[in-house]
Amino acid sequence: MTEQEQKLVSIIQKMTLEEKIAQLVQLAAPFFEGATNEGQITGPMAAMKVNEDVVRNSGSVLGASGAREVINIQRAHLKKNRLGIPLLFMADVIHGYKTIFPVPLAIGCSWDLELAEKSAEIAAKEASVSGVHVTFAPMVDLVRDPRWGRVVESTGEDPYLNSQFARAFVRGFQGTDLQNDHDRVAACVKHFAAYGAPEGGRDYNTVNMSERQLRESYLPAYKAAIDEGCEMVMTAFTTVDGIPATGNKWLMRDLLRGEWGFDGVLISDWGAVKEMIPHGVAADEREAAYKAIQAGVDIEMMSPCYIHHLKQLVEDGSVDETLIDEAVFRILRLKQKLGLFENPYRGADEKREQEVVLCEEHRRVARELATKSCVLLKNEGVLPLKRDKKIALIGPFAQNGDILGPWSCLGSKDEAIQLYDGLKMKVDPSYLFVAKGCDIETGTGEQWNEALHAAREADVIVLALGEHSDMSGEAGCRADIRLPEIQLELIAKLKQLNKPMVAVLFNGRPLDLHGVVDQVDAVLEAWYPGTEGGAAIADLLFGDANPSGKLTMSFPYSVGQIPVYYNCFNTGRPKDAPDAQERYLSQYLDIPNEPLFPFGFGLSYTTFSYSDAALSSDYMTPEQPIYVSVNVTNTGKVAGEEVVQLYVRDVTGDVVRPVKELKGFQKILLQPGETKKVTFTLTEEQLRYYHSDLQFTSDAGTFVAYVGPNSRDVIALTFKLVK
Ligand code: BGC
Ligand code: BGC
Repeated sequence: MTEQEQKLVSIIQKMTLEEKIAQLVQLAAPFFEGATNEGQITGPMAAMKVNEDVVRNSGSVLGASGAREVINIQRAHLKKNRLGIPLLFMADVIHGYKTIFPVPLAIGCSWDLELAEKSAEIAAKEASVSGVHVTFAPMVDLVRDPRWGRVVESTGEDPYLNSQFARAFVRGFQGTDLQNDHDRVAACVKHFAAYGAPEGGRDYNTVNMSERQLRESYLPAYKAAIDEGCEMVMTAFTTVDGIPATGNKWLMRDLLRGEWGFDGVLISDWGAVKEMIPHGVAADEREAAYKAIQAGVDIEMMSPCYIHHLKQLVEDGSVDETLIDEAVFRILRLKQKLGLFENPYRGADEKREQEVVLCEEHRRVARELATKSCVLLKNEGVLPLKRDKKIALIGPFAQNGDILGPWSCLGSKDEAIQLYDGLKMKVDPSYLFVAKGCDIETGTGEQWNEALHAAREADVIVLALGEHSDMSGEAGCRADIRLPEIQLELIAKLKQLNKPMVAVLFNGRPLDLHGVVDQVDAVLEAWYPGTEGGAAIADLLFGDANPSGKLTMSFPYSVGQIPVYYNCFNTGRPKDAPDAQERYLSQYLDIPNEPLFPFGFGLSYTTFSYSDAALSSDYMTPEQPIYVSVNVTNTGKVAGEEVVQLYVRDVTGDVVRPVKELKGFQKILLQPGETKKVTFTLTEEQLRYYHSDLQFTSDAGTFVAYVGPNSRDVIALTFKLVK
């Protein structure tokens, strides 16, 4: 044991059982003296029924905001806490603190790990000067069902890509020296595990999958975050093999702590300990507390099972006190790592907060990342817009600041650059006409008349359409994932004017884009682009920036295809088999098997050609990797970035293997006419997977490597692994 750890042990020895248990409780800010909303204990908080002793001894605070509030709460707390143990302040800093970056699903589409890391670094800095110590991010749940509202918080459907982003976000939030670098915060990867697979895309619903699928697809991104040094893990609300994650001993004791060696702090999601009662695995709060502590939950967030029952569980011998001591030790060690024992106020600094939060530099990065996160889905000669043409900007998002997306922390809609303001930076106002056309879900005749009027004046119509930000995010699930009917009507009516139309979409999930893509000449998927959204989109629409985003989640042809994802199995009766029959195939009679837009897809204002794809050898061995190379040429007239993608298929496995799996990607910038040779290294290790006995090994035999601009349009090269 180190000297530092020894110090913690001696603190724990001085603590009473009540004091220890209170460390394991997380309360919202209003419970604390000095809070801005002190005493406003309403809603689910009221059910906590905590007394003054628990507050005085409690270990952490959820959702305080601003340096002043944090300093006030901490100061008052240290006066009252017998052993002077500082509070930890945690908050949901997901895609920015006050400078809001694009939503994570959009950041995924940038395929830009460096910029993603930078965004987390900036978020950490703004949060830390405002007193936050831990952020509940990154969310790395793998997602395949766009009905689920929380897909907006994930980087998509691919385990490899999600893992890369998980690492980038953890590096950005935490840096390398939390103790001394007070511009960083500790990260908490969530929601462990497989929260991204609720049946039917309905939030909190049953999750059911084999251990193989769990390990192969769903676990890698959490593991990557932990390997990167992520300090905390949050449990999922959902079940893993029939047992709620929050009380799942196999998941957390055996796998997370045992197999993976995670020794940081494990927190339940909001109220998830108590939710074991309605789940039906705990009869009461006492049993819920018992199951959670046995499974290894250190901090119970916002439900009262620990404070009401742990003491008695220890006293009657049901729970070993060492379990409590270990949990307290981990929490205190995190406080120590953050430097809180030396400086309980850490980064909180009102003066610096004024300078740092939402500063020019942060806005600049937000704008850059937003331009890289938008995905151009269609463009038939209409984009980029010409500055000498009159533009009608029409739609509920034309002049709307609701473009930050869910979980935008302290971001304010009023500070967001709306699309209209972005366009005004580019063109003479006399060339710009604006109208709402309709609201997001309803509309009036008057709104339509205004839209018609604006559209008649213009040479080109830019439609700003989408979902309001509550239509995705937690509990934001939809069964029909088309744009609301009124917006589809707006498109159809404007179509009759026969003018070129561009749709810019603001939404938190892949949508069914029928009624949009087939009606307009260009579609730019802008997601929720964040504080600088309007400026970034204007950069793209006018060609001051060139779209380079590529989808990281498939856009379904229609909702009936869901789940539809690129890394699926082939089935025994694939539709494209050479000997395919007419009827008895794995197919729909009424729609194609393929999504409307596949994983990895996105257009640019230039074009790229792929040629001379080659392997360094037809054989790979465990000692000798092979190199996959391809020449990529910019065949258009403007400079552009291209995400070159490498996929692999194991043709014959011990268990069925996906038709393609992403194994690498490189984002390159090419000038017009320029060619670059892109080379990927492929090793035997990258060909390993979980066999029928769950051994992680590779198979000798035939593999196909694919290179290309997306998961569909690829060049195939065959090689053999020899072992
Ligand atoms: C969400 C978490 C979040 C927590 C704290 C929960 O409802 O599922 O993602 O971190 O609340 O705000
Ligand atoms: C079907 C079977 C059927 C067989 C003979 C197969 O394609 O899957 O259910 O019995 O054809 O008609």
